[in-house]
Amino acid sequence: MHGKDVTLDGVAITYPNGFTAVHPTNLKVEAGEFFSILGPSGCGKTTILRAVSGFVDPSQGKVLIGGDDQQGIGPNTRPTALIFQNLALFPLMSVWENVAFGLEARGASKAERRKKALELLDLVALRDQADKKPQELSGGQRQRVAIARALAVEPSVLLLDEPLSALDLKLRQHMRAELRDIQKKTGVTFIYITHDQGEALTMSDRIAVMNAGVVEQVGAPDEVYNAPATAFVASFVGEVNQFKGRIVEIREDGLAVIETVAGVLVGKNPKGLTTGDAAILFVRPEQVQPGQHLTNQFTGQVMRRDLEGAFINYEITIREGAQLVMHTTNTGDGVGVGAELSVGFQGNGGIILPEGQLARTGRELAA
Ligand SMILES: Nc1ncnc2c1ncn2[C@@H]1O[C@H](COP(=O)(O)OP(=O)(O)OP(=O)(O)O)[C@@H](O)[C@H]1O
Ligand SMILES: [Mg+2]
Repeated sequence: MHGKDVTLDGVAITYPNGFTAVHPTNLKVEAGEFFSILGPSGCGKTTILRAVSGFVDPSQGKVLIGGDDQQGIGPNTRPTALIFQNLALFPLMSVWENVAFGLEARGASKAERRKKALELLDLVALRDQADKKPQELSGGQRQRVAIARALAVEPSVLLLDEPLSALDLKLRQHMRAELRDIQKKTGVTFIYITHDQGEALTMSDRIAVMNAGVVEQVGAPDEVYNAPATAFVASFVGEVNQFKGRIVEIREDGLAVIETVAGVLVGKNPKGLTTGDAAILFVRPEQVQPGQHLTNQFTGQVMRRDLEGAFINYEITIREGAQLVMHTTNTGDGVGVGAELSVGFQGNGGIILPEGQLARTGRELAA
């Protein structure tokens, strides 16, 4: 098996009812890459997969796989395979017969089909389960059978539409590593759809973050998390404190000063905002620290304290109507609810971005 690259060249998709689910998008997924599309429900993730797999035609632009224009090529003849959220295995067939299902149509003999199925079951660590029925397997094992079945037709591109969402948390976390492993072993290009940012961050070589039919950023997980390109990306990927305001000063060192309800704050200014611009300062809870003489310094009161074992999460009121969330490692000397605390963050610990739509999952701390 080998992966092929996938290019969306100006692809836009408008459904027959006139609704544009995907606005013109340029995107290149490299051959052999684990590429995730991350975004909230309804942002157009599945629609993009449909266009790649051939179940829907772009209204504009084209899809290329391995450099070949896919226009006029139907789903069955594209070098793609698709795995849905709610996979359906055939209950009356054994595990290996499920995996081999697609091979019969290709004229393979029963012995050939079984050999191939066992190879694939080896890949997903289920060879010893080959003769069981699907209902005798766990949820995670069934998911792996579905992956083996999709790989049986030797696709160059495997499209996975929220394949782990039906599994419980533990299994989902375990399957993340398994999927990643399978992808690396086969070299097949994976396009993985999820609305779970933890999943996207841990599994992907690169991530496209989508909002309302628009890809807002494409980058490596670190890039998307540490250097979000838009307010939406900053608020959707990871937890973040956000303070709306107006730029009051641009400094020489790449930092800017913003006036917010939490006071006058300093943060990085990667987008080159200028004085008077409406903007939002974002700061991750792990950038917030106890202490004095920080660039952005507050005295606050602990309103909430959640012990998570190795970490402690605090919610601290720093002004009326302004809270700051802080994540610290648990060193055994944490303070309790009601305590007064000096906290803050350094100038380069926060990032100032143009005002824009925020994710609903983001914490609206200061409007
Ligand atoms: N056949 C259709 N006709 C009209 N509109 C559609 C159709 N299918 C999807 N849509 C709309 O297009 C938008 C994008 O849908 P899509 O299924 O791509 O979202 P998604 O990002 O996969 O969401 P989810 O995470 O909930 O699966 C949604 O607003 C949806 O209502
Ligand atoms: Mg979907």
